[in-house]
Amino acid sequence: MDLVDALLAEMTLEEKIGQLNLVTAGQAVTGPAGSGDMTENLRAGRIGGAFNFLDRDAIRAAQKLAVEESRLGVPLFFGLDVLHGHRTIFPVPLAEAGAFDPALWERTARAAAIEAAGDGVDLTFAPMLDIARDPRWGRIVEGPGEDPRLGAAFAAAKVKGFQGERLADRACVAATAKHFCAYGAALAGRDYAPVDISERTLHEVYLPPFAAAVAAGCAAIMPAFNSIAGVPMSAHVGLLRDYLRGKLGFAGVVISDYTAISELIAHGVAADLVEAAALALRAGVDMDMVSGAYVNSLPQALARGLVALEDIDAAARRVLTLKRDLGLLDDPYRRLGPADTAPGAHKALALEAARRSITLLSNRGALPLAADIRRIAVVGPLADARAEMLGPWYAAGDPAAPVTILAGLRAALPQCEIIFQMGVPIEGGDDSGVAAARALCQGADAVLLCVGEAAGMSGEAASRARLGLPGHQNALAEAVLSTGAPVIALLSSGRPLTATSLIARAEATLATWFLGDQAGPAIADVLTGRFNPTARLAVTWPRDVGQIPIFHAARSCGRPPDPENPFTSKYLDLPTAPLFPFGHGLSYARVALSNLRASAAVFDFDAGLEISIDAANEGPVATEETVFLFLRDFVARVARPLIELKAWRKARVAPGETKTIVFRLSGEDFSYPGEDFEPMREPGAFEVFVGLNADEKSLLSIRIEARASASS
Ligand code: NOJ
Repeated sequence: MDLVDALLAEMTLEEKIGQLNLVTAGQAVTGPAGSGDMTENLRAGRIGGAFNFLDRDAIRAAQKLAVEESRLGVPLFFGLDVLHGHRTIFPVPLAEAGAFDPALWERTARAAAIEAAGDGVDLTFAPMLDIARDPRWGRIVEGPGEDPRLGAAFAAAKVKGFQGERLADRACVAATAKHFCAYGAALAGRDYAPVDISERTLHEVYLPPFAAAVAAGCAAIMPAFNSIAGVPMSAHVGLLRDYLRGKLGFAGVVISDYTAISELIAHGVAADLVEAAALALRAGVDMDMVSGAYVNSLPQALARGLVALEDIDAAARRVLTLKRDLGLLDDPYRRLGPADTAPGAHKALALEAARRSITLLSNRGALPLAADIRRIAVVGPLADARAEMLGPWYAAGDPAAPVTILAGLRAALPQCEIIFQMGVPIEGGDDSGVAAARALCQGADAVLLCVGEAAGMSGEAASRARLGLPGHQNALAEAVLSTGAPVIALLSSGRPLTATSLIARAEATLATWFLGDQAGPAIADVLTGRFNPTARLAVTWPRDVGQIPIFHAARSCGRPPDPENPFTSKYLDLPTAPLFPFGHGLSYARVALSNLRASAAVFDFDAGLEISIDAANEGPVATEETVFLFLRDFVARVARPLIELKAWRKARVAPGETKTIVFRLSGEDFSYPGEDFEPMREPGAFEVFVGLNADEKSLLSIRIEARASASS
């Protein structure tokens, strides 16, 4: 008999339900309620897993209690939110997504897994895969941005990185794809708010990253806090049971979000905890995070006939199977041996990831800084703000570890006089330092204005209705700009900021997001030109909040925007175009694209086709260029977006060199969810767009014609 069956056969009902109970240790606080002391519940076999431990000794002690003092000695698993690094902190996911490099995404997840597993963590609540098109929503920072294809590639890379070759390896952790699903479409960008979107949008936009995570073998899935059209995700039979388990064939563990099961009462679909527990279990939620609904109320739900014993058995079986796959049934202390990594082992990777996540938004020639620059004034509340560099969700990261922008710059330019004034705090009403900051800038060769958000202003429960610079930072920016010294704006944030006026007047602007431990050196490398920036925006950057939601893959309408025609779809007071399109990001090179061509003007779906374009580096330095391919389907049974991202390629191009970039499109690239949401492709005309970002005006395009294949 398999170990899992043997255990199940011996378990009482209470012990089975105990396996479904996930409690917080409270060493990291990621939700409103605690779980209390776990000792007695561990002895009684009433806990299946625990999370939010930051201390190996405490993990070992809890495991020892479970293994040595409970009747059956079933080990716990230990979870933690390891979103962008464990001890070594990498850039926040939204920034790292901008590297457009699955190999990098996988490597940082691997490094995080090695460190987390070294600390006794068996499972991470990551990757976060919520497509987000509304930067008011603070959690946009945790995910891969606005595009489902990008999100799917990110999902596969992160799952591979966390889980490695074999889950049982002591340096691998189980991944939890979250939050299933459509959490990013929260009403008005307000965290936890309801969602009301079409089934089509679900299938086209929000589900693909989860399908990719499941295909990559993701061990666990977390349903989102939100409801969709009145049905909370923690009780969503159609999406959890029918789609996730039925259609995608997901056989892993579904773990609720923090107190999400008891919140079914506040949602208005359950009268009490018994009903809440029954709704969640019946929908296919295996584990209850913190709410206690399962452990306290499933016995009653069973007695009332609201759930079946088979549902409890099936859930307990999945939890035990995960423990077996993690190697815990063989060795409960598997990830509690000597740690595998020396501190600092991932520093070089943190620097590489940080450099490759910095987006050069604008540059009128002020960057890179002149080699003989003598005097730089560094101003602003984010210039010397160590802990802020980590961003939200920094796991076991050390807030004292990051190198600040100021420190990075001083180390990079020892011969230069670098003077600093904070000016104003990130938030709050104190503007008494503005005058001194202004005085400091007078006569400087360059001013680095380091402004933006605090780390805690994005992430969970950190939605903002205004996306400009908080506090008195605008006043600081005005004062500094008024000196006439060349201003380089550095924006630290977890989302696009509508600092539109500053960006328009600064000589250059960098989106420096939250880059992690190596923020300072990475930013200094970009400022000095030692690293030629490569990152692109994984999210469209709006001019103002009123444009939100804004994203590149929008559909047309009957009256597309036309500046000459008042009766068209536009604003009276703002252009419809964003400030920066998806995919935007400059470098110190200048690449020109030309000669877009297809291997065939008319092609057969099954054969696919090749699209090629030449990229010439007309600038002074070598560059790594990212080239995007979008598709437009002119006439379809269901109208398609005007442009849809299908692929991207990276090419290193030396100055004076021209490289040919080749995209191979398969029949699958031309399909979309049909009227029944099954993949469908329709013969006819398509336009292929290729370019450096999603701004239609800058894209080259050719028309191709698809013929039906035998299999269409
Ligand atoms: C709530 C968050 O929504 C989720 O992403 C996280 O994994 C849990 N808390 C646990 O910290």
